[in-house]
Amino acid sequence: MKALVLAGGLGTRLRPLTHTFAKQLVPVANRPVLFYGLEAIASAGVREVGLVVGAGAREIRAAVGDGSAFGLRVAYLPQETPLGLAHAVLIAREWLGDDDFVMYLGDNFIQDGIDQMVDDFRAGEADAQVLLARVPDPTAFGVAEVGADGRVTALEEKPERPRSDLALVGAYVFTPAVHDAVRAIRPSARGELEITDALGLLVGTGRVVRATRLTGYWKDTGSAVGMLEVNRTVLDTSRARTEGEVDDSSELVGQVVVERGARVLNSRIVGPAVIGARSVISDSHIGPYASIAEGCQVRHSEIEDSIVLTGARLEGVRRVESSLIGREVMVTSARRRPVAHQLILGDHSQVHV
Ligand code: TTP
Repeated sequence: MKALVLAGGLGTRLRPLTHTFAKQLVPVANRPVLFYGLEAIASAGVREVGLVVGAGAREIRAAVGDGSAFGLRVAYLPQETPLGLAHAVLIAREWLGDDDFVMYLGDNFIQDGIDQMVDDFRAGEADAQVLLARVPDPTAFGVAEVGADGRVTALEEKPERPRSDLALVGAYVFTPAVHDAVRAIRPSARGELEITDALGLLVGTGRVVRATRLTGYWKDTGSAVGMLEVNRTVLDTSRARTEGEVDDSSELVGQVVVERGARVLNSRIVGPAVIGARSVISDSHIGPYASIAEGCQVRHSEIEDSIVLTGARLEGVRRVESSLIGREVMVTSARRRPVAHQLILGDHSQVHV
């Protein structure tokens, strides 16, 4: 069995970060969200991974390399235009050959991993296996109807009037039967080749599609709200560790990670929180639920429930909450009177003052 991991896409919901950065590399508790997916694949016993990459290809390659750090062998499959999840299967046809494969959306976080789904698939004789979770509002998801025997009987993408509350989670197992289906479907109203349509075609032509029910936590991190929620979830499971320097006038409360070379000076850090390597925190209050990446500087500031990427600087800002701050970003307080907001923002930036 192989795995096809989708790490292309436009990432419009995470602009402006995604203008210059692959959303699958946004760090959750200081590790790219994609890494959790790759670990889930390795844990399910799959070794060969085809990573579908788009505009962020170069950085994804730099971060994942040949996959050996995860116990995987990774091949890169460039997708020139992100024309949909089923399109990713189409362009991977040759690499996939006639193997069964897991398909995993690289921006999805599935806390309990995919072992159960892969085990269920291996134990049965289905043409495809899907992972389903109950959701309060199914209209934003691919939705499945399932018979008493666990067989999927119908599927619909983002239905206005959903006939079930079972949403497709971003992981599937396919047999080569999917290849005819992805070739046969036409683009949806939003112009994408939908994997839900390919699954629907399998069901409609009498193929067996079975469901594994997911009860644990999962999230599509494609939006800032989703990313911050997963950050909180992962930080909740972190353990306190101090490898950097914490001076006598600082206080660490609860699960706080201070990575190598980081310095915490005259500051209070309330866990769960992580301070990345070589970051300097001084005269500040951090956390709970803050992930500060490596090489950041936070001075005279307060920040909680946020993700701060590599090399960002915060100086004299009180109080930052629920924020996603990109690489090398600078946020400072006004130095002159009158105190005003001075903003130099990239396209699609969002500021709430
Ligand atoms: P989505 O989040 O559904 O799509 P997107 O990345 O275009 O995001 P947005 O809706 O914010 O514009 O994609 C799910 C995952 O699949 C994600 O990791 C990106 C990846 N993907 C591809 O690799 N190729 C594609 O053609 C598409 C649509 C997504």
